[in-house]
Amino acid sequence: MRRILGCSGRPVLFRDLSPDAPRVRVTLDGQVLHLPAGANLAAALLGAGITTFRMTPVSGASRGPFCMMGACFDCLIGVEGVTRQACMMQVSDGMVLTRPLGKGGA
Ligand code: FES
Repeated sequence: MRRILGCSGRPVLFRDLSPDAPRVRVTLDGQVLHLPAGANLAAALLGAGITTFRMTPVSGASRGPFCMMGACFDCLIGVEGVTRQACMMQVSDGMVLTRPLGKGGA
């Protein structure tokens, strides 16, 4: 069985379905990622091994995409300084992503 590793070097739960698709450069908290151009942002990040998109402001618990259809808001992530739903966005070249701070942050 082939083991698939994400950007962090850990095994990923999600698989990139288009590994040969053209890639664009995106940064997440300063980390450079090469994601498929035009792909769903949440799916692309999951495929890159990123599962924590934010931490809750009260408990600091990690959150990541759940519904993938804009209903749960667990995929919130900073895009160019504005908090957005990653599952409702497409990957574009030069995106600057940040994870909202959790408990005690902000
Ligand atoms: S994953 Fe539920 S709103 Fe984005």
